[in-house]
Amino acid sequence: MTPKETVAARHREPSSRADFTIEQDWSAYSAEEHEIWRTLFRRQEALLKGRACAEFLAGVGELGVAADAIPDFRMLNAVLERRTRWSVVAVPGLVPDAIFFEHLANRRFPSTCFIRRRDQLDYLQEPDVFHDLFGHVPMLTNPVFADYMQAYGEGGLKALRLGALDRLARLYWYTVEFGLIETEAGLRIYGSGIVSSKGESVYCLEDPRPNRLGFDLLRIMRTRYRIDDFQESYFVIRGFEELFEATRPDFTPYYLELARLPDLEPGEVLSTDRVLHRGRGP
Ligand code: PHE
Ligand code: CO
Repeated sequence: MTPKETVAARHREPSSRADFTIEQDWSAYSAEEHEIWRTLFRRQEALLKGRACAEFLAGVGELGVAADAIPDFRMLNAVLERRTRWSVVAVPGLVPDAIFFEHLANRRFPSTCFIRRRDQLDYLQEPDVFHDLFGHVPMLTNPVFADYMQAYGEGGLKALRLGALDRLARLYWYTVEFGLIETEAGLRIYGSGIVSSKGESVYCLEDPRPNRLGFDLLRIMRTRYRIDDFQESYFVIRGFEELFEATRPDFTPYYLELARLPDLEPGEVLSTDRVLHRGRGP
């Protein structure tokens, strides 16, 4: 390992703790790593004006998740804990489902702390600190969304017990990661997977290929998703209250009903869908 790799590897070391957390070790980031953050931040900041929803943009402002450097989790938490009683904890990468849900249910967002390399600016298959902090944390300053994320964590623990995790994971995918919202000014982005992606932040709103369909809880839980390409369908909420209210009931009977229904393909459109835009297809 070269000395540079040693520093980067420090942010991916496995945890020895039961909750999989590690220390962010902020002082170990190199100048090049901060520079990569700056490049990503400036690019998305410019793209997201008029594309991301007001709640997201307000969150970025409130956190002072600034352009200049990879944020120190301790500084973010000072703001976040006061605002919505959430905090960010460092993890080396993806963690087991039960651990992930346990963190969310306790209002802790598990975030990676390593940053992608310069040759991965446009696309990375796994989450890094730019996706996790810039993508997810600003929305956690919104009180309704913050409560939704906690409820999702509790729902995740239940889905695990009921063997329904595949279904519930689709809801996370099509809302938290790839959700759109209808506003008076037009469609806007709130999904983390979109706001942290240069290509998809334009594609999801402006490209004729993908479907844009009204949010429908059970329908979403039947819909498969693509993890290796831009989405073929986006689901649009009318507001964060709609999301929170629709997901408030106990999902146990929903899971029973879903077990009898076939899965839907990512690009499929049903006669019962509220179609905002019918995609031309890939
Ligand atoms: N109400 C859901 C349940 O009982 C939990 C949940 C809340 C799931 C919010 C997703 C989002 O399982
Ligand atoms: Co994510």
